[in-house]
Amino acid sequence: MPETKSRIFSGIQPSGELHIGNYLGAIKNWVGLQDQYECFFCIVDLHAITQPFEASEMPARIFDVALTLLAAGIDPDKCTLFVQSDVPEHSELAWVFTSVTPLGELERMTQYKDKAARQESVLTGLLMYPVLQAADILLYHAHLVPVGEDQVQHIELTREIARKWNARYGEYFPEPEALVGPVRRVLGLDGQAKMSKSLGNTIGLLESPEEIWEKIRVALTDPQRKRRKDPGNPNVCNVFSLHRHFSSADDVAWAEQGCVSAAIGCIDCKRRLAGNIVKELEPIRVRAAELRSEPEYVFEVLAAGAERCRAIAGRTMGEVRDRMGLRVSALPAAGKHD
Ligand code: AMP
Ligand code: TRP
Repeated sequence: MPETKSRIFSGIQPSGELHIGNYLGAIKNWVGLQDQYECFFCIVDLHAITQPFEASEMPARIFDVALTLLAAGIDPDKCTLFVQSDVPEHSELAWVFTSVTPLGELERMTQYKDKAARQESVLTGLLMYPVLQAADILLYHAHLVPVGEDQVQHIELTREIARKWNARYGEYFPEPEALVGPVRRVLGLDGQAKMSKSLGNTIGLLESPEEIWEKIRVALTDPQRKRRKDPGNPNVCNVFSLHRHFSSADDVAWAEQGCVSAAIGCIDCKRRLAGNIVKELEPIRVRAAELRSEPEYVFEVLAAGAERCRAIAGRTMGEVRDRMGLRVSALPAAGKHD
């Protein structure tokens, strides 16, 4: 790939089935970015262990995320897809970065505070989470980091870590920038909170048409619209906001006008939406089923990705060790023992 292309790095946790929030907020962007940039997409299993997890389930979770990303259009001929723990340098650089990261900076991270507040005993991994994220990005000298809005603070910290390290050991790491996509926050089917696996308000990317319909059928609409003949307000209706993501301009106009004039009922609107979601997700589901029957291909993609990354990461760590004096063989006397 030409050196002139800017580098992109992003990560996704193997923390359960991917949903349309992940798809609209992250994956769809990634697929588009592959053509313009040199992209590295990482399944961040070492981040996932900062939350309670089952070791016996982890391999399948990692595999399923890889499979879903490939099915959704992540193309190993255009980008590098790999698993974080396959490249030990991520952990090594994270440790190095603890030497320039003030405790206070980590303690003020919103995600840390939110997650820590929900736990009785807080593990240090949760606090260190953004340091590992900085290592992920800087190991590859990435310039741009496509993420959701909630991650912008972590990218700012990454910039600060790069600055502090560079100030001590010489200019080496670029200061990356967050690239927040057009879809910032997809609401869950409850119409209340962010769509999230842990809240059980998701539509999974690989769900069948029947499952998708069952979920949309009972999704919350405008709570003020009590009867079929009452007009509704699309602006407060989450089903309508999903139309905006999945439907054509004509269908969006049909839903909006039909709702405010009571020409259509919620069930008509939902049926059209379900049809449009199924149409967009169907090719992903079909491709995922094919990939599941050829798992060797998925393993090969991840192995090739890890190999490419280890080469780059190894060079970065070599330079980091040199600049930090972590090499006794740098002493002139060491040469005699070659
Ligand atoms: P996570 O599952 O937290 O690792 O998130 C993976 C990616 O999906 C991140 O870039 C998130 O910002 C994005 N994402 C997750 N949930 C949503 C949502 N409900 N709306 C928009 N983006 C989301
Ligand atoms: N923290 C990110 C999230 O929860 C995942 C992640 C880990 C990441 N390492 C990264 C994202 C590096 C971008 C770059 O979504």
